[in-house]
Amino acid sequence: MKEQIKAQFKQRFGTDCVVYASAGRINLIGEHTDYNGGFVFPGAIDKYIMAAININGTDKVRVYSMDMDAYCEFGLNEEDAPQEQWARYIFGVCRETIKRGGIVKGFDTVFAGNVPLGAGLSSSAALESCFAFALNDMFNDNKIDKFELAKIGQSTEHNYCGVNCGIMDQFASVFGKKDCLMRLDCRSLEHEYFPFHPEGYKLVLLNSKVKHELVDSPYNKRRESCERVAATLGVETLRDASYTMLADVRDKISDEDYRRARYVIGEKQRVLDVCDALERGDYETVGRCMFETHDGLSRDYEVSCEELDYLNDVARECGVTGSRIMGGGFGGCTINLVKEDRYDNFIATAKEKFNAKYGHEPEVINVIISDGAHKVED
Ligand code: GLA
Repeated sequence: MKEQIKAQFKQRFGTDCVVYASAGRINLIGEHTDYNGGFVFPGAIDKYIMAAININGTDKVRVYSMDMDAYCEFGLNEEDAPQEQWARYIFGVCRETIKRGGIVKGFDTVFAGNVPLGAGLSSSAALESCFAFALNDMFNDNKIDKFELAKIGQSTEHNYCGVNCGIMDQFASVFGKKDCLMRLDCRSLEHEYFPFHPEGYKLVLLNSKVKHELVDSPYNKRRESCERVAATLGVETLRDASYTMLADVRDKISDEDYRRARYVIGEKQRVLDVCDALERGDYETVGRCMFETHDGLSRDYEVSCEELDYLNDVARECGVTGSRIMGGGFGGCTINLVKEDRYDNFIATAKEKFNAKYGHEPEVINVIISDGAHKVED
């Protein structure tokens, strides 16, 4: 990918360039807990967004997206974001960097990626982190710390893309480390790297390739439910809530909000249980927690869909150790922890059954836990 981007850059802009990359992510467990001040357990993967960049001596940013074969330019002093959604991410990163006192000068860039779009692997966080990292390296002597880089990406989502996301995706994309998952406390941003080598198991994603575009921004609505319950309980976030506390306010909140909070409280504990289990090498417990997460996301949090529930059922039938919908939901992937000797049968069965029911096979995505944002050396 790097050579193609560099060649495209040379052809389009006629100068040399520097190449940066940042990664998509998986999340073993801890879904919709980040904006509730809870724990998550993500890792960066070997699927990247890569950008070739060079300073152009103007106050304009000129961007070409290879994957979309689309071009856009904007001024660094412009207040209004570009119409094109993909360009808003880059515009947002520039603005958020400047807002924090960082320097951004005009630049030319060509970017491309192999993070599947709409699969729940955070291609948008990879794009944001790639540019946040690049602008820090090119214009700011790397003085902006990595926490701030992740927040630049997150604020871009909030202020330019309409998604009130948590910090998990951008954090994973910036802080990712080869062969390690990270347990991140989303309140304090304390994090610990856990080497992840599940001996005898494989971690595989099945992309349903469905994306349910729902009206009324359902992701933001989930967050609002959680915030309403936290306010009723008089706590900062659901991080501070327990089942007992929730039971005490049950008649003051809607049934829907009750179920949303019940899921989050359970999920908080599951992340910690999974960490303990990993330290013991107890993958059966890890897997059981993954199934419980799926059930909670499907029934209480209601961010699954028929196709992903079906993939989850097939995983259970095939004796997969753990399986669940991954990421924000409403389509995308399941993440599956499967014993090596059951892998082939699982993949073949899932393809066949899903195809028979929905008319296309799920895409099998094998991932390697990899480094996050970096400069791509020659
Ligand atoms: C999306 C958001 C994250 C997180 C997940 C759900 O990926 O960007 O912040 O909330 O959904 O865990």
